[in-house]
Amino acid sequence: MRVGILTGGGDCPGLNAVLRGFVLRHVQNGGETVGFLRGWRGVLDGLARPLGPSDVAELLNVGGTVLGTSRTNPLKTEGGLDAVRATWKSQRLDALVAIGGDDTLGVATKLGESGLDVVGVPKTIDNDLSGTDYTFGFDTAINICAEAIDRLHTTARSHGRTFVVEVMGRQAGWIGAYAGLAGGAHVTLLPEFPIDLAAVCDVVKRRKAGAGYSIIVVSEGAALDESGEITVSAEKDAFGHARLGGIAERLAARIEKETGVEVRSTVLGHIQRGGPPSAYDRVLATRFGVRAADLVHEKKFGVMVALRGTEIVTVPLAEATGTLKQVPRSFYDMVAGVSG
Ligand code: F6P
Repeated sequence: MRVGILTGGGDCPGLNAVLRGFVLRHVQNGGETVGFLRGWRGVLDGLARPLGPSDVAELLNVGGTVLGTSRTNPLKTEGGLDAVRATWKSQRLDALVAIGGDDTLGVATKLGESGLDVVGVPKTIDNDLSGTDYTFGFDTAINICAEAIDRLHTTARSHGRTFVVEVMGRQAGWIGAYAGLAGGAHVTLLPEFPIDLAAVCDVVKRRKAGAGYSIIVVSEGAALDESGEITVSAEKDAFGHARLGGIAERLAARIEKETGVEVRSTVLGHIQRGGPPSAYDRVLATRFGVRAADLVHEKKFGVMVALRGTEIVTVPLAEATGTLKQVPRSFYDMVAGVSG
């Protein structure tokens, strides 16, 4: 079978490990792979290259994606579906494997519904995809956050300062919740729950009088007031997402004003997505890639590979996309209960 594969949306540690797992297994199953460059952009423009074992052999621990990525949305591009079909024909594809988050897999879902044979692989550092317990990339991201927060503890303690640390995750607070918990934050603020500024200031003042410093983790999508999430610009991408950013700085200024305590803000930004995947993500990504190859071989399409407990399972693509997986109240309460 001749199968196309692409990586779409924000890059994420483990993408190359999926490519490696897929290609190595697909070859064992007697198939050949063609890699599309820059996500759906490559499919629209017919930009592709063969991917064989020697192309992927060294990729297990390499961050980013050797195929490149983009936030191109073929469903929002004029003639997009026709262009996808034309490439499908010219590349003589039997199937397509899309590795991505909600946006990329949302397109894969629609293509599947239009009659094309597709398989999805869930990726995102945000861990906000329904249908899977974890996406690869998340573990690496929270390890990077935890290490950064460990470092902020020592400088904050030395200066008797408060630090507000902004982490990614869009409208889902998984990175925030796990980073806050693993990093021993004293306050964790997520997009799912309104910020109680007075309560945050109480913690800062109390800790100033005791330990002398505080660490506050805030998800980029958290809202300080009714005006909602804070964005870098009004511009939206092809999937309707605004660029989030700025909550840490805004919050730091408010806390400093209310408490008189010296506050600094730090934005971890794209460092959370860069570099090699953690061992956990290498394993999860490889398992996803191998399973995707087997699904193609068995001609099981319209599904996404997923992690449930410790098992790799499949879920219908339509079930996996469209509903954001957010942090439940019970989990947030547990995090808050061991902070402060
Ligand atoms: O979805 C992954 C993610 O890293 C989000 O956490 C973040 O808001 C967004 O991508 C950043 O996108 P970009 O790479 O386009 O700045």
